[in-house]
Amino acid sequence: MTKLRSLAANSPGRRANWRALGLSKEDMEKPKIAVVNSSSELAICYAHLDGIAKIVKEEIRKAGGVPFEVRTAAPSDFITGANKAGSYILAGRDIIANDIEVQVEAAMLDGMICLTSCDKTPPGHLMAAARLNIPTILVIGGYQPAGEIDGEPVDVEDVWSGQVDERFGKTPKFPVADMAENAIMGPGVCAGMATANTMHSVVEALGMTLPGNAPVRANSPKMQDNARACARRIVEMVDEQLLPRDIMTEGAFRNAVATVLGVSGSINAIKHLQATAIEAESDIDIFAMWEEMSDVPVLSAVRPTGHVRIEQFEDAGGARAVLKRLLPHIDGNALTCTGKTLAENLAGYEIEGPDVIRPMDDPVGPGPAIAILKGSFATSAVVRLGIRDGSRPEEFSGPARVFESTAECMQAIEDGVVKQGDVVISRNQGLKGGPAMGGGASLVLFALDAAGLAKTTAFVTDGQLSGLCLKGLTVAEVAPEAATGGPIGKVRDGDIVRISVANRSIDIDVPAEELAAREGPGYRIPATGYLANFRQDVRGMETGGVLLPEKD
Ligand code: FES
Repeated sequence: MTKLRSLAANSPGRRANWRALGLSKEDMEKPKIAVVNSSSELAICYAHLDGIAKIVKEEIRKAGGVPFEVRTAAPSDFITGANKAGSYILAGRDIIANDIEVQVEAAMLDGMICLTSCDKTPPGHLMAAARLNIPTILVIGGYQPAGEIDGEPVDVEDVWSGQVDERFGKTPKFPVADMAENAIMGPGVCAGMATANTMHSVVEALGMTLPGNAPVRANSPKMQDNARACARRIVEMVDEQLLPRDIMTEGAFRNAVATVLGVSGSINAIKHLQATAIEAESDIDIFAMWEEMSDVPVLSAVRPTGHVRIEQFEDAGGARAVLKRLLPHIDGNALTCTGKTLAENLAGYEIEGPDVIRPMDDPVGPGPAIAILKGSFATSAVVRLGIRDGSRPEEFSGPARVFESTAECMQAIEDGVVKQGDVVISRNQGLKGGPAMGGGASLVLFALDAAGLAKTTAFVTDGQLSGLCLKGLTVAEVAPEAATGGPIGKVRDGDIVRISVANRSIDIDVPAEELAAREGPGYRIPATGYLANFRQDVRGMETGGVLLPEKD
């Protein structure tokens, strides 16, 4: 520590403040640990975290540290996604990273333990860890118990798809009002391998939580024990000066990419991993890595990919079992928060449910479950394929049906304007155009499904998709986006768009000069306040949408 930093960290004013807060003289010499509690009374994803924070703080004290609880923003798709077409959700990820910086970095704390829960908290925490590069461990907040009606499981995905089904005249499996009463029976993140459980698995694959922690039933005795173990470990990590950039190396990112592919996880993991790599000042290209790892098959078919429930996946060994299956193909030498390598952590571990988490040579389905497409229509675009059993088209060519907004697109589907064979294009939903990629594209996909068109049309958008989305041939996160002059902003009704998963391509049959000469839509959706700042600062999808300025 420089003399100046040492003076700041030990200033009499700081001592006076902390003594007044009840810290003892001995405490002043102990490691100061931030307990980052991304919590909120607004959403069930976070409802248990204050109790977990209490447990963690007690354990840190027992282990010889001094905990300071630090609050951050806590976005939740179903609650804080209500306004501005869901734009505040992804934008919240960067608020979390900044919240942590302005408290933990500013206070010069020695380490942090982050209670991570709903979709944007794991990437927000990972990004902050990568940026601050102080000893950090994440506690996996766990998933919510689903309910049942007449003995049949019902979860929040059923509620969501049911409401769209009703709008399109389809009968959901139970009345939506009944499902809403029964879908969520306790705290935690959405059930299934949606974005939250995908990112929780990513955290373990990166080595940023202890082995065997993801996924986990929220608030269960196991989860509480995990939290205690993480609390003890962070005090040791501060002593060892084990830093996030020692852990989140290229090998660790490779392990995370393989894990997402192995569980057929949410496409949102791609941008979150890329953003984390940028925050770590690394030049890792996650999009290229994705293609390099494309031979990783699907090892477990958790909903929405298949019928395995998240509880079964946890009981079968969860992320640790997936990593064990992947081990010969990934980087076993990657250091983890245990202070040991991934291979050392996994030595002697036996997979609890070998039928649920299958071996590489006898997988549930061939890879990749998610692929990156490129061509004259996009420099990158993401397609989630899930189990590639021929039930969804992987080659498609058809006339574009272009819509400037989700509402316009939904109405056209409802009115029967969208026909079989169309390439449905919903634009102006990107990082700058949305801004911050709200939730509209997911609604369009569920509408196409409800209208019986998911498998006979292709859906292309510069927006993002919920981790619950896996239907038809859907190409999302098209970059460059419409608002920054990408071809998706210039395509017109009737232009032929061609998609080939085999060739990893998406092209438009319009000469490049003609396309370049066309006017794009620009920013059609107004943005004010923080969203206007986000629009101004956010960089392209190749960065995962970070707000950090480009380095000189
Ligand atoms: Fe929080 Fe789904 S809304 S995890």
